Amino acid sequence: MTYDLLRGLHILAVIAWMAGLLYLPRLFAYHTQAQAGSEMDATFQTMERKLYRIIMNPAMAAAWIFGGALIWFDGTTRGWGFLGQPWMIAKLSGVVFLTYWHHFLGRARKSFAEGRNTRSNRFWRMTNELPFLAAIVMVLAVTTEFGNR
Ligand code: HEM
Repeated sequence: MTYDLLRGLHILAVIAWMAGLLYLPRLFAYHTQAQAGSEMDATFQTMERKLYRIIMNPAMAAAWIFGGALIWFDGTTRGWGFLGQPWMIAKLSGVVFLTYWHHFLGRARKSFAEGRNTRSNRFWRMTNELPFLAAIVMVLAVTTEFGNR
């Protein structure tokens, strides 16, 4: 019961985190087209700040907390061997990448806020799908548990 509740909360946190990871670069792509110091620039800055601070930071923390609780639950009931299995290594590699990307986007948000963004519209459109590619690997890793003998 507790485990099932944790799984549900983990998935909800992940949904909110992914929404932000996919939407923030989309805002950046449009933001590159706004004149620095314009009203449009200020509007994008506000949208980006609120999305990052109110949605993405708490969602990432919740995904980590509930994911960490699942690891603890699995480890103490089934043993810790699953942490070395290929599917879990793939899953955790995705977690490391998404956490890195989250902070990379956070630094980019600050650059936009200080009017010193140098990355292009094309860069933000090209990299926009990276979190989703990571999510495909991570979700299929946990649903198939490939390499689990
Ligand atoms: C933030 C750090 C995260 C940690 C520490 C973590 C850890 C875990 C653990 C230990 C499980 C249980 C695996 C099992 O034994 O079945 C799990 C389940 C799952 N995770 Fe994560 N995870 C994290 C983030 C994510 C992300 C970013 C995604 C999706 C993009 C994701 C998607 C899932 C899914 C779909 C499940 C299956 C839930 C179920 O059992 O029905 N997780 N996670």
